[in-house]
Amino acid sequence: MTTRRSFIHKSGAIAGAAMVSPFAIHDLNGGVSQNDKITVALIGCKGMGWYNLTDHLKSPDVECAALCDVDESILNEKSAELEKLTGKKPKLYKDYRRVLEDKSIDAVIIGTPDHWHCLMAVHACEAGKDVYVEKPLANSIAECEVMLKAARKHSRIVQVGQQQRSGQHWQDIVGIVQSGKLGTIRKIKTWAYFAYGSAQPKVPDTPVPAGVDYDMWLGPAPKHPFNKNRFHGSWRFYWEQGGGLLTDWGVHLLDVPLWAMGVSVPKSVSSAGGIYAYPNNAIETADTQSVIYDFGNFLLEWDHAGGVSRGQYGRNYGVAFIGNNGTLVVNREGWEIIPELDDKTPRMEVMPLQPADRTDHEKHVRNFLDCVKSRKMPVCDVEFGRNSAVLAHMGNISYRSGNKIWWDDIKKNFGADDKANAFIQPAYRQPWRFPVA
Ligand SMILES: NC(=O)c1ccc[n+]([C@@H]2O[C@H](COP(=O)([O-])OP(=O)(O)OC[C@H]3O[C@@H](n4cnc5c(N)ncnc54)[C@H](O)[C@@H]3O)[C@@H](O)[C@H]2O)c1
Repeated sequence: MTTRRSFIHKSGAIAGAAMVSPFAIHDLNGGVSQNDKITVALIGCKGMGWYNLTDHLKSPDVECAALCDVDESILNEKSAELEKLTGKKPKLYKDYRRVLEDKSIDAVIIGTPDHWHCLMAVHACEAGKDVYVEKPLANSIAECEVMLKAARKHSRIVQVGQQQRSGQHWQDIVGIVQSGKLGTIRKIKTWAYFAYGSAQPKVPDTPVPAGVDYDMWLGPAPKHPFNKNRFHGSWRFYWEQGGGLLTDWGVHLLDVPLWAMGVSVPKSVSSAGGIYAYPNNAIETADTQSVIYDFGNFLLEWDHAGGVSRGQYGRNYGVAFIGNNGTLVVNREGWEIIPELDDKTPRMEVMPLQPADRTDHEKHVRNFLDCVKSRKMPVCDVEFGRNSAVLAHMGNISYRSGNKIWWDDIKKNFGADDKANAFIQPAYRQPWRFPVA
């Protein structure tokens, strides 16, 4: 009987996975010595930021010196939780720039909404901090590019929160794809069907809640009256803060084909969709959207439908590599291979569902910490975060401009397409300035 181990071994998958490892591309200077503790600070403490910090604290060589949030109630709640967890009271900040001035801090975790990632990460690199930044790397193409430059210029470790890169089963399937066993791969599907934006009725603007520095929450984004729909968690349905399902889940799932196929820039991108299911809800991003990325010798498709959960291959989200010999389907739960049949004879071995070990995130955090010490490239280096975030943004730019778009990777624009080019870089609200690196 074929087991996961024998299948991977026979397909040469282990060698394939090693081939794409970003480790030892080059070493980065500075950092914490092997025996020292790594002192971290968390900026943006509510949802994923807190989850990231708790996984950091599972390592005995980590301590958290400071928490930073613009919402005093979150700050106080998380401070109390942290004290309970570690027995130590962290320093508390509302302005991340004060965190960056603190010389005792080696690394920052950025768990804010997407529109803040760029400024905070670039400033952290300038201050000599290593960075664990949540995905998508940033909320625009130009921000992603400047973050990559800043990380390189200041020789900083920047790990992006695309934890699949650390997962064993994802590494296994990348090896299988690269082994050629699936035959010619001409199409890759990625999809997400979630209850997303379906429970977001319009509500009136209200005064800013007590203890919230809303101007600092908005930061470089345009000013709006306070509305709870644009605030904690649900900012992701608004273009100025996020990009809907495509930049939220898309960066995770689109990253896998980029990794497995060893590509980054598509030849063309075209997208269609709209707010078809929930036109009366408080959302700006599409609840229904498809994107086709043409890489010249294969198509990569993105497909989402907010509010329903019957996705492809019986999964509400995932990636399917469609080869001449069979289709490999994978998501966080595991992977399987559905072979093509000639009459009743399969063109390759059947692999029933191989469950995942669900330790991706913990390993991803540990990889970051190891790299802070070793100064090796982390497994989801800023460049990989840049590539998948840019791909997701391209899908949204095609959707918003209504155009099929072609990226010029030398000029870093869409050629003469002024409508698409207008989305590459956001206008920052004063006094915030678009960073230079
Ligand atoms: N890797 C994953 O699987 C995963 C999962 C969920 C979310 N995320 C990412 O994590 C990030 C946070 O998402 P979330 O759902 O936790 O958002 P959230 O709105 O629940 O939390 C964001 C926190 O950041 C704080 N904040 C905002 N501006 C700030 C500023 N200027 N300074 C300090 N704090 C500030 C907010 O007050 C809030 O506490 C997003 O980029 C999201 O895409 C990643």
